[in-house]
Amino acid sequence: MNLNDYIASKRDEHLSELYEFLRIPSVSAQQQHKPDVERTAQWVAERLRRAGVGSVEIVPTKMHPLVYGESLEAPGKPTVLFYGHYDVQPPEPLELWTSPPFEPSIRNGNLFGRGTADDKGQVHLHIRALDALRQTSGKLPINVKVLIEGEEEVGSESLWDYVNNHKAKLKADALVVSDTSMLAPGVPSITYGLRGLSYYEIEIIGPAQDLHSGVFGGAVPNPLTILTELFAKLHDKNFKVAVPGFYDDVAKLSHSERKALNALPFKAKDFRKTVGAPALCGEKGFSIVEQLWCRPTLELNGIWGGYIGEGAKTVIPSKAHAKFSTRLVPNQNPEKIARLVERHIRKLLPKSASCKFQVLSTGKPWVAPYTHPFFEVAHNALETGFGKRAVFIREGGSIPFVTQMYDTFKVPCILLGFGLPDENAHAPDEHISLENYFGGIKAIANFYGGLARL
Ligand code: BES
Ligand code: MN
Ligand code: MN
Repeated sequence: MNLNDYIASKRDEHLSELYEFLRIPSVSAQQQHKPDVERTAQWVAERLRRAGVGSVEIVPTKMHPLVYGESLEAPGKPTVLFYGHYDVQPPEPLELWTSPPFEPSIRNGNLFGRGTADDKGQVHLHIRALDALRQTSGKLPINVKVLIEGEEEVGSESLWDYVNNHKAKLKADALVVSDTSMLAPGVPSITYGLRGLSYYEIEIIGPAQDLHSGVFGGAVPNPLTILTELFAKLHDKNFKVAVPGFYDDVAKLSHSERKALNALPFKAKDFRKTVGAPALCGEKGFSIVEQLWCRPTLELNGIWGGYIGEGAKTVIPSKAHAKFSTRLVPNQNPEKIARLVERHIRKLLPKSASCKFQVLSTGKPWVAPYTHPFFEVAHNALETGFGKRAVFIREGGSIPFVTQMYDTFKVPCILLGFGLPDENAHAPDEHISLENYFGGIKAIANFYGGLARL
């Protein structure tokens, strides 16, 4: 049977196996799921072995194991490193899911469940593609190295050690990743840029302890007020980040790239619908795709302090807290930005409070040319999978590993994403379009097959 017929004939099997994978709650952030995370690593390792990837190992780390396997039985053919993650985001709040997060369920042509789009569904479609290639041609037509980690959603810390200690082992002609999205349904996409992410936490400290707001209010600093005033000053009325120097190193888009990005079939109306807010807001002078993909941001991610329980409590809290982050674009330097942000916050802070400033993580942006011949193969394979020519896009999310690999090996990084922007990644009712999942298997199998014929 030829490759595409074989893949089409196995739809039920693709899905029932994906269900198995999705049912294991591999939540990397929650200690209670540690055994599930380990079980998922074993599932991936076992599945890779059955797909013909030899020498698969489960590598223990300080936190969650990573799975590495390789099949190097195609001398003279290209070697690709496929990277993905088997861990998922916490499913909470559970009451907002239409069907339980770890019981996969199909509605309206979509498969619902935590990890369907980010990233178990996309990892699985690569495994099925490899399997299909081996079943139809007896062996894998190219050399593959597969690295699937279990810590992506919590910062990929163990991965750095592993990469640094195994550079020769991981070397490949290209990195292939499916952990991104298509621009829109029916628009296969190749992503050539991601934003970087740096994450911060601050604590504002006022009085030495909580105080009665009647007895003390009016004469003492309130850290919550100070915190909110401070954050209100971090953007100006045009939604520019008001940290001096923040934009100094931002690369200006070339005329041709700006034109190409703004000519993409991006529908502002669909975007507004997905967002669901009464109106949008963003940095003045830039289109939505430029704001999302090519401009840096500073976002408040969480804020707490004082009393938030039932009823009223008249208290002036001693401390206030916030988590916030910056998305970075070329050529911003994460360490420099962190210094600028801290300096500015300390400058805005009134004398009546002190502040602890922590940088929890930093991550560089990534943008790379897509001229290598492998991109042509990928482009054609996406057409085989989806019946349409692919577009080249950038995205606003971050995948630290891509930047790291690009900086280390300078090899082409080919990001073929099969998610969609409205598929609720990290949120309740996460799902993947079945058309994209099946189209993805076909596209990836044809991509790997096509590389063998180069
Ligand atoms: N798959 C996403 C990254 C992504 C999403 C890239 C959409 C492009 C489009 C990944 O799992 C993720 O969530 N990354 C985090 C960063 C990470 C360090 C926790 C992110 O972007 O917030
Ligand atoms: Mn992901
Ligand atoms: Mn994610």
